[in-house]
Amino acid sequence: MYIDHRVLGSTKLTGIIGNPVEHSISPQLHNSISFYLGLNLIYVPFKVEKNELENAVRGLKALNIAGFNVTVPYKKDIMKFIDENSKEAILVGAVNTVKNINGRLYGYNTDAEGFARAFKEESGEGFKAKQVALIGAGGAARAIAVKIALEGAKKIYIVNRTKSKADEIAGIINNNIMNIAESCGLDEEMNAEIYKKCDIIINTTSIGMYPEVKSSPVSRNICFFSHQIIYDVIYNPQRTQFLEDCGRFGCKVINGLGMLFYQGIYAYEIWTGVKIPEEPLKDLFRSFSNILDK
Ligand code: ATR
Repeated sequence: MYIDHRVLGSTKLTGIIGNPVEHSISPQLHNSISFYLGLNLIYVPFKVEKNELENAVRGLKALNIAGFNVTVPYKKDIMKFIDENSKEAILVGAVNTVKNINGRLYGYNTDAEGFARAFKEESGEGFKAKQVALIGAGGAARAIAVKIALEGAKKIYIVNRTKSKADEIAGIINNNIMNIAESCGLDEEMNAEIYKKCDIIINTTSIGMYPEVKSSPVSRNICFFSHQIIYDVIYNPQRTQFLEDCGRFGCKVINGLGMLFYQGIYAYEIWTGVKIPEEPLKDLFRSFSNILDK
């Protein structure tokens, strides 16, 4: 009989909690990194029911888990069970990565960091002195807005269907980081004016995600300009209708695959302290995009 040596008595445990978790590709990503680096670590998915979050966290702590990711719908609720949340996670209002050090839990948000890294790698640009428009005002928008503000953007416009939610994020930025954020509801003329002024436009909504692949968060009457960088947090499909339309104006267009990838890489680095070298990282990213293509 074949003896499987992948999991040993000394193997360290990591994983992801959320509901659902069946669709998550984080196990493949993290286990591939451990395999590549030869680290004795395993990453497993845990589906947690709504009223079981506290029990689940206690259990993971009791089992001496090295660290875990947190996904929908617990990124906010998890914060009250964490001993120390990072400053950035508090501003973002969400934790997606937890590290266990001797029974003390530390909370981080690597979505924001993952977004910034992916954006810089793929566009060759940063956010300093840039005018940026965010479409949507949910968790992804807040993480991205906080990061961009911390990195010195000149102006952040938050455009959202429910204006009060855009106001809320603008308030967080203006009161805690810098007075650079403005909110706006959905209004074709006003939105077009905003997009015209921006260097970077980011869709943080799920509009255009599979299976609604023909939808776009922006009216087809609005024009974009070739110097603009357009980012869509969606990675399925890899080229959304929004990116397709903006590509026709000659804009540089980037999908959310890199954000997903780098939030995982940062989590891995937080748990293990290992910095993954550039070359294998690129190789891993290529393989990772291929999994999602299937
Ligand atoms: P996430 O945490 O991934 O950012 P979310 O919290 O559900 O997801 O936020 C999604 C954002 O996309 C919301 O701001 C939502 O607008 P509302 O605040 O008005 O609900 C926006 N959004 C999602 N679907 C939309 C649609 N069909 N039209 C307009 N806005 C939409």
